[in-house]
Amino acid sequence: MSDKKRVLSCIQPTGDMHFGNYFGAVKNWVELQATYECMYGVVDYHAMTMPFNPIKLRENTWELIFNLMAVGIEPQNLFIQSLVPEHTELCWIFNCFASYGQLSRMTQFKDKSATSAEGEDGFISAGLFDYPVLQAADICVYRADYVPVGKDQEQHLELARNIVQRFNNQVGKEYLIMPEPLYTEFTKITSTADPSRKMSKSAGEKHYISLFSDSDKIRKQVRSAVTDTGENTGGEMSPGVKNLFELLKACEKIETYTALKADYDAGNLKYAPLKEAVAEALVEISEAVRSKRAELNTRKEVKEEIKASSAQIRERAQHTLRNVKELSGLLNVKY
Ligand code: AMP
Ligand code: TRP
Repeated sequence: MSDKKRVLSCIQPTGDMHFGNYFGAVKNWVELQATYECMYGVVDYHAMTMPFNPIKLRENTWELIFNLMAVGIEPQNLFIQSLVPEHTELCWIFNCFASYGQLSRMTQFKDKSATSAEGEDGFISAGLFDYPVLQAADICVYRADYVPVGKDQEQHLELARNIVQRFNNQVGKEYLIMPEPLYTEFTKITSTADPSRKMSKSAGEKHYISLFSDSDKIRKQVRSAVTDTGENTGGEMSPGVKNLFELLKACEKIETYTALKADYDAGNLKYAPLKEAVAEALVEISEAVRSKRAELNTRKEVKEEIKASSAQIRERAQHTLRNVKELSGLLNVKY
């Protein structure tokens, strides 16, 4: 076993990967692989907490796996949550250590249940309420030390930490590892169509630029980016222009960034060359990942590889679960 610290993070298979997820999370996951022992999960059980379609769910799960591999996640670090049943088994045990009051205060639950309540039948699943407990199980089943997530996940991490503490107290042993957050959202990318909101799939198609879009579509979306909304920004850079500069920086085009920023400071920046530079930088990244993706599509064995890595990763989860059940006074199945 390696003595590197363990990192775990997960992402829901709910559709396209965009430059917001990429710069805000996934690019960092790729980089962490050099320093830590990393495990990254595609959490399909979590994706069932909101209305879903079974065919789409399976499609999106594989789609996300291929996309993650295309951006540089090593297949042996990837797993699919539903291939590791210990996540849901630990979730039940954790339910008995999670506070109902704390779950009721989760802002993500409040936001998502408000959205569901507006839906056709107003259905809100108990799974949506329990979502953060399953997330705690994702983390603890691998005894992860660090969890790279955006600030929006702070409350969920805190719940996981509370569960760990309560469990360890109850069983009288510091068995579960107290997970530490590793906040990764240093780059917040906003929507190019409306720079006052973050780039996101849920806001609709024009509010995100897909990482795997064809180049012309990317160029078009960047060219039509909102720069000045006409609002008085008090001499400060407008949010739209700031976002374009952020994107250039995120693409590591530092020279171009410095040159254009100097133009801006001198008061003679034209938006067209800034947009052009951003568009080309995004296209360059997109072309690289699309070509990797096309190569993966021709490799028939990818799905088998992921099933094998999930089985390998599962062994660790089984080990934890055996200990957790033993410590909790439950019985263990022999296998
Ligand atoms: P989502 O696709 O919204 O579930 O997000 C997956 C991860 O990507 C989250 O951990 C977020 O922190 C990150 N993320 C999503 N959108 C953005 C964005 N516009 N800017 C920065 N990070 C983002
Ligand atoms: N809730 C996380 C998100 O929306 C996804 C997630 C599920 C997760 N399980 C996790 C993140 C475990 C980190 C660790 O982004």
